[in-house]
Amino acid sequence: MRKKIPVGLLGATGTVGQRFVQRLADHPWFELTAVTASERSEGKTYAQAARWRLASPLPERVASMRLLPSGGEISCRIVFSALDATAARELEPAYAREGKWIFSNASAYRMEPDVPLLIPEINAESLSLVERQQRERGWKGAIVTNANCSTIILAMALAPLHQRFGVEKVFVTTMQALSGAGYPGVPSLDILGNVLPDILEEDAKIERETAKILGKTTGESIEAAPFLVSAMTYRVAVEDGHTESISVLLSRRADASELLAAWREFRGPENVRALPTSPKTPIVYLEAPHRPQPRRDVDTQSGMAAVIGGLKACPLFDWKFTALGHNTVRGAAGASVLNAEYAASKGLLD
Ligand SMILES: NC(=O)c1ccc[n+]([C@@H]2O[C@H](COP(=O)([O-])OP(=O)(O)OC[C@H]3O[C@@H](n4cnc5c(N)ncnc54)[C@H](OP(=O)(O)O)[C@@H]3O)[C@@H](O)[C@H]2O)c1
Repeated sequence: MRKKIPVGLLGATGTVGQRFVQRLADHPWFELTAVTASERSEGKTYAQAARWRLASPLPERVASMRLLPSGGEISCRIVFSALDATAARELEPAYAREGKWIFSNASAYRMEPDVPLLIPEINAESLSLVERQQRERGWKGAIVTNANCSTIILAMALAPLHQRFGVEKVFVTTMQALSGAGYPGVPSLDILGNVLPDILEEDAKIERETAKILGKTTGESIEAAPFLVSAMTYRVAVEDGHTESISVLLSRRADASELLAAWREFRGPENVRALPTSPKTPIVYLEAPHRPQPRRDVDTQSGMAAVIGGLKACPLFDWKFTALGHNTVRGAAGASVLNAEYAASKGLLD
């Protein structure tokens, strides 16, 4: 058996950090060997510093690991980042400069023209931006990002439609889970029996990141997809799983059966399908009425699928439907792990 690759994790104690710990526990290629958090947690064991919130038990091996300072020495080439954007902006480039490959969940570098905003099933070729990044910035390593959690679900739902019919306009309204705000997140008195509109900067992230992901990679740059996206975002009292109400105008007319076929047949490139974290089918369409629902469908394909339902004709645009995805899995830790698997499978991390 091949020896596992040691990996580090920045921001290991937070909501996304915990999901990484869970998903890396039995990973066939990667072994978590270094964890960091803020100064508050430095020197404590993981079990002392993290309020473990996941249903599966905290892996014993990680419980006793000491938290290192974020920004300090880490002896692994692959480093996952679950830092907030401010810390990421400062710390990630320093690691990349010295030769680490950072697979980041933070928004800090997502929109830089030389940084891949990767969903391997959709834009695997965008990983080639790394060559320009290393050359122009003089880095031995690299930063590879995944998108905002709502953007990933939207981009997955749109990709098969954009590939087959072209997308012209999109209107999306999100209903985002509490775990999307990190821990402790939104105070209970603000959210119980309530809905909070206009999540900070989220609309703009969804609008610009979707166009980058579904854009064209030509050589070492990306031409953003020309369609218009209008997003409105809401926080709701759901633990995990972002639900999105999506209306779409297509470039060419297509009937419902063509849309369903586009989603059902969507697979992504063959070399991505073979990766350990790849879902069998990236998109699952549910025929049953009133689905998808976060409580019932969020863990579809181990949380790595975008789950779609309720396709109907739209009196304003062409079609409307509902999409759901696990925000800390497909929208964060699972997405990053898949990105690292893809880079490893291309021999970039050797
Ligand atoms: N939650 C989601 O669904 C989601 C989805 C996609 C992307 N993201 C992104 O993922 C990142 C993490 O989100 P989260 O929800 O996990 O946040 P979180 O629960 O607040 O966790 C933040 C983590 O960063 C550490 N940290 C905070 N300030 C730091 C500093 N100045 N220096 C070093 N470490 C610091 C914290 O350590 P301590 O425990 O010591 O405070 C903790 O480990 C963010 O960039 C977020 O935008 C989140």
